[in-house]
Amino acid sequence: MGMYSEKVMDHFRHPRNVGEIPDADGIGKVGNPVCGDLMWIYIKVKDGRLEDVKFKTFGCGAAIATSSMITEIARGKTIDEALKISRQDVADSLDGLPPIKMHCSNLASDGLKAAILDYMKKNNIKPPDWVKIESETEEKCDT
Ligand code: FES
Repeated sequence: MGMYSEKVMDHFRHPRNVGEIPDADGIGKVGNPVCGDLMWIYIKVKDGRLEDVKFKTFGCGAAIATSSMITEIARGKTIDEALKISRQDVADSLDGLPPIKMHCSNLASDGLKAAILDYMKKNNIKPPDWVKIESETEEKCDT
């Protein structure tokens, strides 16, 4: 695991905000079709902001570290701010990811987007057109 930054290793070993939110306002489930890794993100929304964000991930170290990191970045943000969190933002906050692991961070940003879209759907809020889910691609996923 020498290719990982200390921050990645820290979030991998001590992931933040692991678990479910039983009365979540939105739930996102995304999978990487190549490696089969899966992630769920749960959000609680209050006054238009993400009051709580939790995750469950069955995946590689980078998938766990990026989901842990995105829960910390997203908490307290408005819906629009949270929708704009990109995989690059997540990687930057972790002091970088090796290029072959960048696709793993798609799971985190897409999981969060999926949870927010779920929340919007349940509340009849129209999502902005620029929102795209990126993980359903053919990108190779080496564990
Ligand atoms: Fe599958 Fe990282 S998400 S190897």
